[in-house]
Amino acid sequence: MSNEISINASLEPFSTFRLPATARELVVLEDAAALPGLLDTELPVLLLGGGSNTLFIGDFPGRVIVNRLRGIDSEVIDRDRVLVTAAAGEDWHELVRWTLDRGLWGIENLAMIPGLVGAAPMQNIGAYGVELAHCLESVEVFDRHTGRIERLAASECGLDYRHSRFKAEDAGRFVVLDIRLELMMHGTPVLEYPSLLEELERHGHAQPDDPRTVAAAVMRVRKRKLPDPAVIPSAGSFFKNPVVDNAFAQHLIDRHPGLPNWPDKPGSTKLSAGWMIDHLGWRGKSVGGARVFGRHALVLINAGGATGSDVMKLAREIKAGVQEAFGIELEPEPVLIGNSLLH
Ligand code: EPU
Repeated sequence: MSNEISINASLEPFSTFRLPATARELVVLEDAAALPGLLDTELPVLLLGGGSNTLFIGDFPGRVIVNRLRGIDSEVIDRDRVLVTAAAGEDWHELVRWTLDRGLWGIENLAMIPGLVGAAPMQNIGAYGVELAHCLESVEVFDRHTGRIERLAASECGLDYRHSRFKAEDAGRFVVLDIRLELMMHGTPVLEYPSLLEELERHGHAQPDDPRTVAAAVMRVRKRKLPDPAVIPSAGSFFKNPVVDNAFAQHLIDRHPGLPNWPDKPGSTKLSAGWMIDHLGWRGKSVGGARVFGRHALVLINAGGATGSDVMKLAREIKAGVQEAFGIELEPEPVLIGNSLLH
């Protein structure tokens, strides 16, 4: 299948939300050497990993390149640190398991995040108090501007909460080929996230000394709260948690004492979008086949036969409700392809 271009290909199997949409052209990339040739087209190009953070609201009138570059390697730096390099087409959770099998600390809190390795730096994946930025060393990219392969240090990637230069000012410029992580042989668990700590305490592991113990607790919490994309089509959180200035956050917390909040950058506070949506009674509500997940209000699912316009209508109604009740403008978390067609 490699390098064979399919015409008017269905994108449904390539996105975990499984919306009906097509790409004018679709090709699977298994060898980085084929990349320059595949990028040499007049058509718009979209690089796709596991499709767990991309929603095809409409058809894509260009060439979709599905990244399936494989390989994981490691290099010991000193008594504590190991560099692990993983190709962009590796499954993220398989990489987490690979590191856990070797007793390495660093990405245990990121267990079970759907998607492929190449998407991790795009949106600086994060969960349970850890973000990729905590242990990312560098990213190897193909730079479409120069036609060269380069290794960008993590500090050059513009990582922030669910954000990077790859999805912002440099969207479409770089193709991620691999990521390199700096992991620890003797790490300390990150247990600041209340639901993770509670889960560990419940199992008598308040001070875990093995990253596998932490990952197992993360997986139990995720299984309880989040849909398994292999069973229920979804793209995880549909909106980002909003970050607002402290004074406005305090004003909202005074009015809604239950609203979960976390200190963010100096002077700002992150608020729980899931709680706000839940508070407005959205859990379990649907527009067509698009539904707010019954166990977590931040997650939209495809309950069967959802279309891009169902998703957009539901998302717009939720957004308007939150704006009216809380004065906050929610931003989508996944990349929405073709949504301009519906505005
Ligand atoms: N909450 C409700 N009702 C709901 C959902 C949540 O009251 O329907 C409350 C929870 O009780 C909790 C708070 O909101 O007090 C936060 O909920 P949760 O711990 O599930 O985390 P979240 O802020 O909703 C974020 C990430 C998730 C990540 C979790 C754990 C974003 C956009 N989402 O969700 O990431 O797994 O924290 O770290 O930051 C994703 O990005 O796709 C994703 C699933």
